[in-house]
Amino acid sequence: MPPTEWSPQSWQERPAEQQPSWPDRAELDRVLKELAGMPPLVFAGEARRLRGQLAEVAAGRAFLLQAGDCAESFTEFSADNIRDKLRVILQMAVILTYAAGVPVVKVGRIAGQYAKPRSAPTERVGDLELDSFRGHMVNDDLPDPAARRPDPKRLVTAYQQSASTLNLVRAFTMGGFADLSQVHQWNQQFVAASDEGRRYEQIAGEIDRALRFMAACGIDLGAEATLHQVPFYTSHEALILGYEEALTRRDSLTGDWYDCSAHMVWVGERTRQPEGAHLEFLSGVHNPVGCKIGPSVTADELLDICARLDPDRVPGRLTLISRMGATAVTETLPPLLEAVRDAGHPVVWACDPMHANTITSDGGRKTRRFDDILLELKGFFEAHRQVGSYPGGVHVELTGDDVTECLGGLGDILEDQLHLRYTTTCDPRLNARQSIDLAFRVAELLRG
Ligand code: PEP
Ligand code: CO
Repeated sequence: MPPTEWSPQSWQERPAEQQPSWPDRAELDRVLKELAGMPPLVFAGEARRLRGQLAEVAAGRAFLLQAGDCAESFTEFSADNIRDKLRVILQMAVILTYAAGVPVVKVGRIAGQYAKPRSAPTERVGDLELDSFRGHMVNDDLPDPAARRPDPKRLVTAYQQSASTLNLVRAFTMGGFADLSQVHQWNQQFVAASDEGRRYEQIAGEIDRALRFMAACGIDLGAEATLHQVPFYTSHEALILGYEEALTRRDSLTGDWYDCSAHMVWVGERTRQPEGAHLEFLSGVHNPVGCKIGPSVTADELLDICARLDPDRVPGRLTLISRMGATAVTETLPPLLEAVRDAGHPVVWACDPMHANTITSDGGRKTRRFDDILLELKGFFEAHRQVGSYPGGVHVELTGDDVTECLGGLGDILEDQLHLRYTTTCDPRLNARQSIDLAFRVAELLRG
């Protein structure tokens, strides 16, 4: 296909996978026009700041923690829910910073993660053959044909809900909740009583002592903004391209285009076709962008993706999120690491140890084994060690709640317990205890 002149709508000339069949085109156009007139959710300068921090990751001087829901929900939307998710991400970041001694760049799968790609267009629920649930930005997850009809008005709700989520995230992270003196407060009750919680509490105690020591030495801790405020960035899969286009704005300072729906956006394993609409869209926005890569990707295909998304070889511009599977990672990843290094792309390499390790339990629930997740992480770090590249980050699905969605962990969730608190609308997430345990394991791998 001949190269097109990029514009926020040039993706429309390309084949776009995973787009809903909106029943009413006129209604969709009206909604997209409305969105195009709404204020941006994030600012170009913030996205540039994140790009700069990811450049530090690419250079091996920082670590990326990207975490949050598989699919955010319109119905499970509350301040407590957002606070608890932030808590566990802040805890993980503290563990990584303290135990591995690296600055951690914190990016949530939050404030916009409302659209889901699906492997099949329909799914069976009991006796019903239903259109697949595609995220609350598109349709509802209820097992009812009417609920599964794509409704463009949901795009506006997604925007509004992203705006209120972002407002809370900003208030929590800049307004005192993320203050380092609050480290004990982040440990939720059900976590504090567990082995993982006690291990965390120990670090929190050491941080307290270090802060008291510095204060006793006469350092004015109140004046140190970095102790009281935490830069926290938002990200989601840029799936529904009409929505992303409507929120794409030209930065008045640089004249460059930014997708102002989130600081970082990524393209998924099912929509990363080099000639496809999603890559075309991402290629022209100046946000830091990500691309998931699964075991089927070839080195040539990956280099094609890198050339399109990072033609100027800008550090921190591109994050490659590897999701190969617990056993496949050892074989598949090293040649890809070499190919990207030899082509001179200063990318961030992150490991998503979740999406290629999804299984169906005997009871028919989608789940993941905590041990498989750890195994993929280990393989990811080993592959980098072998090649001499830097394992720059992790990308995980989690919640602050005490859910029973992934098997194993120190709390040893068993197959017949999955139904107890299984609340995800899409993929199984780590609960708070499993997330904290995972952070300790990653810190060990990083210290390696
Ligand atoms: C996801 O991140 O929720 C997802 C669908 O991932 P992938 O594109 O890697 O399958
Ligand atoms: Co998922």
